[in-house]
Amino acid sequence: MTDDVLTVHGGTPLRGQIRVRGAKNLVSKAMVAALLGESPSRLYDVPRIRDVEVVSGLLELHGVKVSAGADDGELVMDPTNVEEASTDEINVHAGSSRIPILFCGPLLHRVGRAFIPDLGGCHIGPRPIDFHIQALREFGAIVDKAPEGMHLSAPNGLHGTKLELPYPSVGATEQVLLTAVRADGVTELRNAAIEPEIIDLICVLQKMGAIITVHTDRVIEIQGVPRLHGYQHKPIPDRIEAASWAAAALATKGEIEVLGARQADMMTFLNVFRSIGGEFEITDARVARPGVTGVEGGIKFWHPGHELQAVALETDVHPGFMTDWQQPLVVALTQARGLSIMHETVYEQRLGYTQALNQMGATIQVYRDCLGGTPCRFGRRNFKHSAVIAGPSKLHAADLEIPDLRAGFSHLIAALAAEGTSRVYGVDLINRGYEDFEGKLGALGALVERL
Ligand code: EPZ
Repeated sequence: MTDDVLTVHGGTPLRGQIRVRGAKNLVSKAMVAALLGESPSRLYDVPRIRDVEVVSGLLELHGVKVSAGADDGELVMDPTNVEEASTDEINVHAGSSRIPILFCGPLLHRVGRAFIPDLGGCHIGPRPIDFHIQALREFGAIVDKAPEGMHLSAPNGLHGTKLELPYPSVGATEQVLLTAVRADGVTELRNAAIEPEIIDLICVLQKMGAIITVHTDRVIEIQGVPRLHGYQHKPIPDRIEAASWAAAALATKGEIEVLGARQADMMTFLNVFRSIGGEFEITDARVARPGVTGVEGGIKFWHPGHELQAVALETDVHPGFMTDWQQPLVVALTQARGLSIMHETVYEQRLGYTQALNQMGATIQVYRDCLGGTPCRFGRRNFKHSAVIAGPSKLHAADLEIPDLRAGFSHLIAALAAEGTSRVYGVDLINRGYEDFEGKLGALGALVERL
């Protein structure tokens, strides 16, 4: 067990307002995009999270000057003097995040070579990078795998190509975008991911001078341009963090207003939240009222005060129910009457955390079958990827060890909802993706303390 421990006195409804900033899964990619420009970029509303520190460190190693701007959350990245970094220096970041894989295209364009360390990120299955490597090779990159990482070069430059992803992978789509924008000629990507964070990355790249068309049916066309310049961008808000707090409101029978959350990015989540019986109000209309300034809206989420209802759900690529919304919501589903079903179709091993919930009194059974939805890639491959949650269950306190970012947050919610005092070990992992979560818990009246 690790020594970063949070003691949680559960059973108190969370009530109050917190704010979400730019989405982790856009901010980190927009930071990599800055490397492609030949003048400085400015990113606003950047959360203080570990993933931002990791990408800043990697950018700095490659000669990008990263500094804080005048506004709170403003990040300035100056890539005027991009240079190669040594393998040893880059390897310091090995295992800390999955973002380094996205440096391939930008580094090949800027310095002609790239070294990518062993990747990290959450342990939620094998998380292969075969789509990335295949795509880079089709652009003309030479990819050499070595024990210490991956060496890439492009002696004949990078050239536009026609690609089709076997699955609409977020990371592989970003890889293609970040490589194709400055490749010679046109790239056509089929079966692309179209998550809001990807569309926002396309907005960033368009601001930099890229020419990208998003067609219907997951087809993206990119016309390569010889050079790009810096951008100024305010990222989309973090819809995963917003949903995590919404689930916390429901599980603890509380009421949380998530300032900054945006309805358009969360429609699928909001429909499910309502089906369970949760109530919400979109409060961003306040901002638009004439004569009203300085008031920020978002979405207010609350428990209805009566019993919640079970639902059958499956996670999917956008516009489906996000895999990262799954873990926090399952905690709330332990409080719903009846049998809920969660069919996880994006990652093959993302239900392991339910064991800890069972230890706290939940009744969750996991199955290898595709339950409740359409058959998915994992059905015949022996992965336990469907869960049946029987509720309502009275949760009691336990000692918990955080396994990964989103499951970790769900453990925290469970401890907050449970009667008694829990100890949550490894909470620092939550700082990878949730800005100042301890400060926010305090603002919501949670009774937590560091040991
Ligand atoms: C991104 O991961 C997010 N991470 C994940 O959030 C998120 O869960 C995921 O997209 C899906 O929305 C970041 O943006 C940093 P994928 P990514 O490529 O890009 C398979 C969080 O907590 N696949 O869309 O790595 C893969 O195994 C994180 O914020 C291949 O088989 O996800 C998975 O089953 C966790 N080969 C599926 O595709 C490949 O080369 C989707 O993965 C690439 C992916």
